Amino acid sequence: MNHKNILITGAAGFIGSNFIDYLIYDEEIKDINLIVIDNLSYCGNLNNLSFAEKFSNYKFIKGDICDSALLEKIIQDNNIDSIIHFAAESHVDRSIMDSTPFLINNVLGTVKLLDVAKKYKISKYLQVSTDEVYGSLGSDDHGFTEKNNITPNSPYSASKAAADHFVMSYYTTHKLNVLITRCSNNYGPKQFPEKLIPLMIQNAINNKELPVYGDGMNVRDWIYVKDHCAAIWKVFNEGEFGEVYNIGGECEKPNIEIVKTILKKLGKSEKLIKYVSDRPGHDRRYAMDISKIKNQLNWTPKIDFEKGIEATIDWYLNNLEWINDIVSGEYLEYYKKQYGEK
Ligand code: NAD
Ligand code: DAU
Repeated sequence: MNHKNILITGAAGFIGSNFIDYLIYDEEIKDINLIVIDNLSYCGNLNNLSFAEKFSNYKFIKGDICDSALLEKIIQDNNIDSIIHFAAESHVDRSIMDSTPFLINNVLGTVKLLDVAKKYKISKYLQVSTDEVYGSLGSDDHGFTEKNNITPNSPYSASKAAADHFVMSYYTTHKLNVLITRCSNNYGPKQFPEKLIPLMIQNAINNKELPVYGDGMNVRDWIYVKDHCAAIWKVFNEGEFGEVYNIGGECEKPNIEIVKTILKKLGKSEKLIKYVSDRPGHDRRYAMDISKIKNQLNWTPKIDFEKGIEATIDWYLNNLEWINDIVSGEYLEYYKKQYGEK
């Protein structure tokens, strides 16, 4: 490992904070400095990173990736040599309500980061992307490979696809050493309760209705967040520049099955399920073909769904305070707007 000072964006969110947790206790990385930038938007939560504060190789900076002057200062002050970019607006439903924050944070933010990476000759840049850039699959289609066309359907996935195109263009045009990972649906501790699994856990605990979009038969490929973190670290260290690596859990499930599993594990009645009007442009099915990362980098997902969902439910049950802190003003307003009339 020749990188010493890694800038990690968006690590106060769900996957980024799990990524710091994955790395910071590892003796092998104790000489690597992890410098986090996050603007603590509605889903960024400094409590997610409190465990890291005692480590001398960790530093948090509150700031926006769209602020080039700040990025330059951080790179100079910390002698940054590589970047792992998680920061984004990440929720499809919010992108349907208003696309502009997705354009600004996901597209412009990525371009600003790429520009400073180019200017300061950053030796490695990893873009954390998503399977959603490939669009939607039919029930008999083969899972997405890295060669699939990019055909995003939601404003969120369009913004992630645009960002990916910019990343690749900096590889071709500016010879920036880039890597892209595209992962399927993550679940686990610290996921903001606007996403399917934490929202359903939270509502079930509180005996509230569980809003299932459409017929509940849309399929996602679920991966436990720690498996995703391990894959990112693997690609960061061993991936080939200019390449895309698909990551997935090889665990396809229709939404209704997930919802019923959560109810069963919490001992709650299926009467809480409420079918509501569908998400506009709702992608029917995602599934990842992960042969490339398996064969080339020897990575596979380790945590099966049964274990992962139990660990996740336990985490939420043991961290009611975390969720109560979040379920305040902005969240309630969003919830009313999204589900009020369904
Ligand atoms: P999240 O919404 O929980 O966290 C995003 C973080 O980015 C937050 O802490 C937020 O404050 C920060 N942020 C947003 N805009 C910023 C800006 N302009 N400057 C600085 N910080 C900013 O999201 P997540 O689920 O942890 O996703 C992280 C990344 O992984 C995203 O790029 C997302 O597209 C990608 N991804 C997510 C999943 C999934 O299932 N959650 C799957 C594949 C890929
Ligand atoms: O596939 C990777 C993507 O997974 C990431 O890039 C995104 O950042 C992440 O948010 C996630 O996107 P999805 O749209 O698949 O996740 P979400 O949790 O919003 O929804 C999962 C499925 O559950 C989807 O088919 C919609 C459905 N759903 C969701 C909510 C919030 C419901 O039926 N009811 C709900 O209330």
